[in-house]
Parts: sequence; structure tokens; C-alpha cells
Amino acid sequence: MKMYFILFGPPGAGKGTQAGSMVERYHLCHLSTGELLRSEIAAGTELGLQAKALIEAGNLVPDAVVEGMIAAKFRNTTGVEGFLLDGFPRTIAQAQALDRMLEESGEKVTACISIMIPDTLIQQRIAHRATIEGRADDARPEVVENRIHTYHAKTEPLIEFYREAGKYQEIDGVGTIEQVRERIFTLMDLL
Ligand code: AP5
Ligand code: MG
Repeated sequence: MKMYFILFGPPGAGKGTQAGSMVERYHLCHLSTGELLRSEIAAGTELGLQAKALIEAGNLVPDAVVEGMIAAKFRNTTGVEGFLLDGFPRTIAQAQALDRMLEESGEKVTACISIMIPDTLIQQRIAHRATIEGRADDARPEVVENRIHTYHAKTEPLIEFYREAGKYQEIDGVGTIEQVRERIFTLMDLL
């Protein structure tokens, strides 16, 4: 059986930052729905055109869009011991769709690893990243506010979903990048 880790957390929690060392250590394939969508936008595809306005306003794209992208990646990726899902699932419907997808191939979610930071730190981290990466959805504080709001309204309920499934593992995302990485490794080594 392959491993399916969900890397969970609010915007700016450090998912993308930590993903690189996690996939290296555990031989996983990093799948970030945010990154996949940004490359669709950059390539000017039909899907990218549909997603652009939603992302730039800080709203979620439709469940079916991201579910389709993830299903295609599962089908086409070989030679890995599992997947690290960064930014997916983000709604209860997506989590249920993921369970169905995995069930069809006799697989299941291994664990949901949640990096938690307070809302005040989110704005700070994203304002900092805005000066470096130039992501369209980082540029305006009101868009970041909406992403935080969307996280609480639509994504936070997943904590209870995975807790009930006995799969929720939370780590403190406050501290240096190295400190957070060590906390994640300590946890994952035990799973
Ligand atoms: P997505 O790209 O997933 O953005 P996000 O969830 O808002 O998360 P971020 O990428 O902003 O944060 P991160 O946790 O990766 O933080 P990072 O490591 O970069 O999604 C973008 C959009 O796409 C969504 O709004 C939505 O529209 C759409 N979308 C994506 N998935 C979807 C889905 N499943 N369904 C529907 N729509 C979807 O860190 C942030 C900054 O902090 C960096 O500068 C970093 O260097 C710094 N930093 C990190 N850790 C530390 C630390 N410990 N100390 C100090 N600084 C740190
Ligand atoms: Mg990210």
C-alpha cells in the first residue's frame, strides 16, 4: 500500500516550505493543488482561465476541478512510496471524494499532518512572501483576509473529519523553519 499524507494548515502555515524535506525523507510525491493551479494559469489553459479570478479573489475553485487534477496525478505518477497532498482536500466534499478515489484502489489516507499558526502570524508571513514570490493572491491584505475567512469557514471543519477518523496529527507551526521541520519528522517517524 502507498502512503497518502495530507499536509494541512491555514494559508502561510509553512506547508510549501516544509514539503520539500518531507518528500525527500519519506520518498513521496509532492502534490500542491495551489501550485498546479498556478501553473495552469501561467500556461494559459482553459482550466487556468477558469481558476484565475477565483484564486485572485481568495476564493476556492470548484471541488470537481481540483479532484480531477488530483485523480490524474494519482494515475500518472509512478515510482514513489506515496503522496504528500498540500492544500488538498480543502472542503468536506473533497475529503469524501479523496476517500472514494483511494477506496477504489484499495488505499486509504495515512494521516493528516496539520501545521497550526495563529491568524495574526498568517498576515505577517504572507506579507513577507509577497515581497519575494509575487503571488497574485498575496498582494492585497483584503484578499489574504478572505483566504483566512475561507479557511475557517470551509477548510477548518476537516480537522474534526480527520480527528473522528483517528488520523489527525497537529504540530505547532510557530518557531523557526528548522524547529517546525524537526517536529514534523519526529511525528512522521512514529507513524
Ligand atoms: P495554496 O497555494 O494552497 O495557498 P494557501 O493554502 O493559501 O497556502 P500558502 O501556499 O499561502 O501557504 P503555505 O502553508 O504553503 O506557506 P509557505 O510555506 O509558502 O492555494 C492558493 C489558492 O488556490 C487558494 O486560495 C484557492 O483559490 C486555490 N486552491 C488551492 N487548492 C485548492 C483546493 N483544494 N480546493 C479549492 N481551491 C484550491 O510559507 C509562507 C511564508 O512564510 C513563506 O515566505 C515562508 O518562507 C515563510 N515561512 C514558512 N515557515 C516559516 C517559519 N517557521 N518561520 C518564519 N517564516 C516561515
Ligand atoms: Mg503553499
